[in-house]
Amino acid sequence: MAPSAVAFDEGCSVPEALTDEGIDEIREAFVQAARRALHAGFRVAEIHAAHGYLLHQFLSPLSNRRSDRYGGSFENRTRLLRETVTAVRAAWPDHLPLLVRISVTDWAEGGWDTEHSIELVRALLPLGVDLIDCSSAGTSPKARIPVGTGYQTRFAEQIRRETGSRTGAVGLITSPVQADHIIQSGQADLVLLAREMLRDPYWPLRAARELGRQTPWPVQYLRAAPAHTPASLPYTAEPADKQ
Ligand SMILES: Cc1cc2nc3c(=O)[nH]c(=O)nc-3n(C[C@H](O)[C@H](O)[C@H](O)COP(=O)(O)O)c2cc1C
Repeated sequence: MAPSAVAFDEGCSVPEALTDEGIDEIREAFVQAARRALHAGFRVAEIHAAHGYLLHQFLSPLSNRRSDRYGGSFENRTRLLRETVTAVRAAWPDHLPLLVRISVTDWAEGGWDTEHSIELVRALLPLGVDLIDCSSAGTSPKARIPVGTGYQTRFAEQIRRETGSRTGAVGLITSPVQADHIIQSGQADLVLLAREMLRDPYWPLRAARELGRQTPWPVQYLRAAPAHTPASLPYTAEPADKQ
């Protein structure tokens, strides 16, 4: 399923264009997923509208060729994401953060770009989004991406500066000093790591030590921790609003 019957690339299968009914089901599926996440004990939810996933496909003119109220104009292409954010926000407790991950640019001619993202974020903030997680790419095989250390951080900085939104930086951020600099210099409010956390699952503990800060440890690890280390809060499956 996709906004339009457009294959990602030559040789890729051609998706089926979603009907109105299918779109309603997708929106509802996001709400149900948020409810399950809350029940499972998660305290932060992120709506994924990046990396060529469905919501991003609706945003990008490269993948969205619809002529109904979900395609064509900027307002129409952003409609499904705005509706999904509104519906999830209503199901997700007010005091818990709701993030949205976007691809700030498609890195491809005729695609979604930084200016579109700035306009989108301005429309998302009043709907109760707490932070925009700024990534890039995913809709085009022709994307030319200048991959390098912290190569997407400038998007987090720009979106933060131009919209006033809190932002998250992600992409080839590996060292504690680098991550700390991004926060301290006001480029982003949050740093997200993926591959470095796979290489070193204890990264947050190492970062705290290297930066001379204290961070809570899981209670079962405390015997190995430096003296006076606080314990992290115990996991609970109860939704926070019932605690
Ligand atoms: C094993 C693996 C799984 C990933 N799964 C997702 C995913 O489900 N959603 C997503 O937005 N990004 C996913 N990513 C991308 C990361 O979130 C991140 O954007 C990307 O790896 C760049 O950050 P890094 O340089 O810290 O790895 C994944 C990355 C890896 C390595």
